[in-house]
Amino acid sequence: MENSFSIKVDGTGEEFSVANNAADTLLGAALRQGLGFPYECNSGGCGSCMFEVVSGEVKELWPEAPGLSAKARERGRRLACQCEPTSDCVIKVRLKSDYVPLHRPTRVAATLVEVRKLTHDLTEFCFKTPEPAAFLPGQFALLHLPGVEGARAYSMSNLPTDGGTWNFIIRHVPKGRGTTVLFTQLKTGDQIDIDGPYGLAYLRPESPRDIVCIGGGSGLSPMVSIVRAAVRDPRLAGRKITFFYGARTPNDLCIKELLARDPLMAERATIIPAISTPTEGWQGEQGFIHEVMQQKLATGFENYEFYCCGPPPMTEALQKLLLLDKRVPAQQLHFDRFY
Ligand SMILES: Cc1cc2nc3c(=O)[nH]c(=O)nc-3n(C[C@H](O)[C@H](O)[C@H](O)COP(=O)(O)OP(=O)(O)OC[C@H]3O[C@@H](n4cnc5c(N)ncnc54)[C@H](O)[C@@H]3O)c2cc1C
Ligand code: FES
Repeated sequence: MENSFSIKVDGTGEEFSVANNAADTLLGAALRQGLGFPYECNSGGCGSCMFEVVSGEVKELWPEAPGLSAKARERGRRLACQCEPTSDCVIKVRLKSDYVPLHRPTRVAATLVEVRKLTHDLTEFCFKTPEPAAFLPGQFALLHLPGVEGARAYSMSNLPTDGGTWNFIIRHVPKGRGTTVLFTQLKTGDQIDIDGPYGLAYLRPESPRDIVCIGGGSGLSPMVSIVRAAVRDPRLAGRKITFFYGARTPNDLCIKELLARDPLMAERATIIPAISTPTEGWQGEQGFIHEVMQQKLATGFENYEFYCCGPPPMTEALQKLLLLDKRVPAQQLHFDRFY
């Protein structure tokens, strides 16, 4: 391709290109061209997209990204989600078929059409694109926000069948640069770029097991999409679907609003909200959401397909419980960590 850099993957015969004026990352370009480049967060936090530069030059977009240690950097490693090539390159990375995208990501202009407040700090932002919103329930997209360095990852809360609709349930992080722009500056009618879909923690309707979804705090967004898709999928008609939803206090829960909008969720799935801070008058479950889930399921953990989403302390506790203590096979666990 003219005006593009060629990236050869050492020892594989695979090659992809990155347009030299498109401000694309190595990871984005590889996935857009259908390569199985390993990654998880696409946000510089996890280190899963680490590769080695064998020859050529790359520019780092976020040199301080926590996903790359100083030692790895010294050894010539870089993060593909935080690098743009500035010349033709040869790189070393182990491509894996699991990462070949079912929907290749694209970057498109999207218009903010609605803002729905759910709690004191959770809001659903609804965007429209002229193109269909092709993604799998549980996936995320990168939002390029005006004046914010680096893109921010947010998981879709809606169903991919909604034409060009991309909804995201987002928590306002105090002093967070991206969320401050979203919550205080962006207005309906404004346009931003959305780049997606990304992520592997999506609904697997072909699995023969009952489904357990566990979402904590802002981890609600992809779980809502997965539950809404699962209750409609004819392949899952005989399957039990349970959704554990954790928050700190009753004020942090917005399940009533979500169920009012999609009553099929409550008809078909069992929804168990829990709060972690003891609160007078609360009649429901209390405790950390992984503890509540453990108590309720009690036995037979290996018979479920698990979808879990939330901040790293919660997903780490769940991973320890399910993988190490309950010996659930890793392929039945689908984690979406918010680094
Ligand atoms: C896969 C994934 C899905 C997520 N889904 C959701 C969701 O559905 N709802 C939700 O509320 N939150 C979600 N998050 C968290 C979200 O991406 C943000 O981290 C969070 O909103 C805080 O952003 P902020 O800009 O307000 O805070 P800040 O503290 O300003 O920024 C925090 C994050 O921005 C990124 N970042 C910071 N500086 C740079 C830079 N220079 N270049 C590139 N990146 C940078 C890093 O990822 C960092 O963790 C998700 C995170 C991931 C990884
Ligand atoms: S995918 Fe690049 S650091 Fe997580």
